[in-house]
Amino acid sequence: MSSKLIIALDFSSADIAMQFVDQLSPSDCKLKVGFELFVSAGPEMVRKLTNKGFDIFLDLKFHDIPNTVASVCKAAAKLDVWMMNVHASGGIEMMHKASEALGNFESPPKLIAVSVLTSMTDKQLQQTGVNALAKDQVAHLATLAKEAGLDGMVCSAREANLLRQLMGEDFLLVTPGIRPTGSDRGDQSRIMTPADAIRAGVDYIVVGRPITQASKPLEVIAMINAELSNVDS
Ligand code: C5P
Repeated sequence: MSSKLIIALDFSSADIAMQFVDQLSPSDCKLKVGFELFVSAGPEMVRKLTNKGFDIFLDLKFHDIPNTVASVCKAAAKLDVWMMNVHASGGIEMMHKASEALGNFESPPKLIAVSVLTSMTDKQLQQTGVNALAKDQVAHLATLAKEAGLDGMVCSAREANLLRQLMGEDFLLVTPGIRPTGSDRGDQSRIMTPADAIRAGVDYIVVGRPITQASKPLEVIAMINAELSNVDS
């Protein structure tokens, strides 16, 4: 069975990222390529990773006018990524065009929405002119994303229970801010363990530094996968 673990490859160069990836097998995890690695190493890096057999979540959070977002989603799909994302606050028309653009691919990547960034407080959200609590805005944007034909969304594990109830089973929930018991929380504040996140209804967990900066990353990966399979059984 394929793993529910997505490792965030937040590295500053292709060489450093590849040194890390060379230890891994596609059956252990999927990989997330975000801004830092994409800006440093480009689409070529994504191709190298897919050629090695990894499922890639391209985490570039597209947010622009509908036509531009639809075009960049098509370009990203040509890299054979497994998943990508757009900002739900770009609106239903933008999300719909993005989803439609991917519909022409034989096996289209999963398209998920970013709602309210988990780093934002209620106050900061309201400063942007949105007169709602962050959790209510997340639920609202999730409904919009589903209506636009998206496959799911990025959310905090704390929101997963509510979103699972509101959105039903057929909506992917992908969650960063995961910390295995005993690991350093870093700059994440609203954290959860891998098992608790899956119990709350999350489909895939994103883990970065607790694995990438561990002295024995493979041991941490094995521990997380064991924890996840115990929840399944
Ligand atoms: O190292 P850590 O486990 O905190 O990495 C989490 C990853 O998830 C990072 O790549 C970060 O950019 C991403 N992320 C996040 N919070 C969000 C969206 C993405 O931490 N709301």
